Amino acid sequence: MHHFSYKEGVLHAEDVALDRLAKEVGTPAYIYSRATFERHFRVVDGALGAHPHLVCYSVKANSNLAVLALLARLGSGFDIVSGGELHRVVHAGGDPRRTVFSGVGKTAAEMRAALEAGIRCFNVESEAELEVLEGVAESLGTVAPVAIRVNPDVDPKTHPYIATGLKEHKFGVPMAAAPALYERAAKSPHLDPVGVDCHIGSQITDLGPVVDAADRIRELVEALRADGLSIRHVDLGGGMGIPYDEEQPPHPDAWGDAMREVFGRLPDLELVVEPGRVIAGNAGLLLTRVLYVKETLEKTFVITDAGMNDLLRPALYGAYHEIRPVREPPESAEVGVVDVVGPICESSDVLGRDRSLPGLRPGDLLAVMSAGAYGFVMSNNYNSRPRPPEILVDGAAFRVVRARERIDDLVRGENVWTED
Ligand code: LLP
Repeated sequence: MHHFSYKEGVLHAEDVALDRLAKEVGTPAYIYSRATFERHFRVVDGALGAHPHLVCYSVKANSNLAVLALLARLGSGFDIVSGGELHRVVHAGGDPRRTVFSGVGKTAAEMRAALEAGIRCFNVESEAELEVLEGVAESLGTVAPVAIRVNPDVDPKTHPYIATGLKEHKFGVPMAAAPALYERAAKSPHLDPVGVDCHIGSQITDLGPVVDAADRIRELVEALRADGLSIRHVDLGGGMGIPYDEEQPPHPDAWGDAMREVFGRLPDLELVVEPGRVIAGNAGLLLTRVLYVKETLEKTFVITDAGMNDLLRPALYGAYHEIRPVREPPESAEVGVVDVVGPICESSDVLGRDRSLPGLRPGDLLAVMSAGAYGFVMSNNYNSRPRPPEILVDGAAFRVVRARERIDDLVRGENVWTED
């Protein structure tokens, strides 16, 4: 469900026409819908019902300060993976006490900053990391709350680049190795083992592997509690899939019901979740303008002013994003099959391959849908292209929540080293 729809023949973000936005802020531009973000947060939060729980929005999906601020106001916690993300959360008014810190490569400096901010839990991914964290906590004279991220060795059946829960992956520790780490943490005056953590992958469209992983986690919690540890929460990670194309991911309610069934017999065990894509994905689009239409013997290419540096997912994962013309084509419009491509000097610079679109001309506007998650955050300056602005729409109002980069931004911090 999202709030992008055609009104009087023009695609709108909530009540703002995209052709008007293009005129006022230029293209390419990321356009977000506040109502969609808020709706998605409430759906995920509601899915866990009365079972004690905390939704920690995964900042990596879309880390714009305005997005974090609006989620913080709804009571969201945050899942971070770097000191930079912690800075953003604090800057946006998020609560560090509702923030968990994931990732296989935390530095001592990042741990220190997170301990000083008073975050809720470190999701620890190895024994070596546990030792470094213990040392940092000791040097600050404090106690670090920890969950060990276990790798349940289940196949999430998603794209191999975004699967994380198989034993060949770098993430987490094997289930069998976890009890020893908990014992180690429990003995330390500077570590407090409060939770168990797991995340098996992203864009999951099948509940089976999620339930398998949850079952294994519950068994581990029961075993640890039997050993006398007071495990207070499990963190189930993120991963809920969204419909980009024809996928039919389970509704968050089905996912919530399944989790409540697995953990129902541990009613005091808090469930932490780290959703990113399901909250942000369909809350944003990338608005772009057609520069040229180029016919070759083989194909028709629609060349747009947005490229793989602006939206990397199609080039990196072969990901599908629906592409809609901003002006709704009449039913009688003739449709052609085209490749929508960007201006970057790479053949992988494709936004959409073999798309059926009505006759497009230079100047026409297109919306690349479902670009709210892993869109702007993965953008870069390849080919020395300034990154696009981010615009947040709220009803009939909109605000530029990140300005378009300027040419000068591209060379900031660089120096020419000339010999005299
Ligand atoms: N928690 C952890 C520990 C994660 O590694 C991730 C995502 C999440 C939560 C949030 O997962 P989500 O709910 O968004 O599925 N760039 C890729 C996705 C990478 C996901 C990385 N980890 C893409 O564009 O599809």
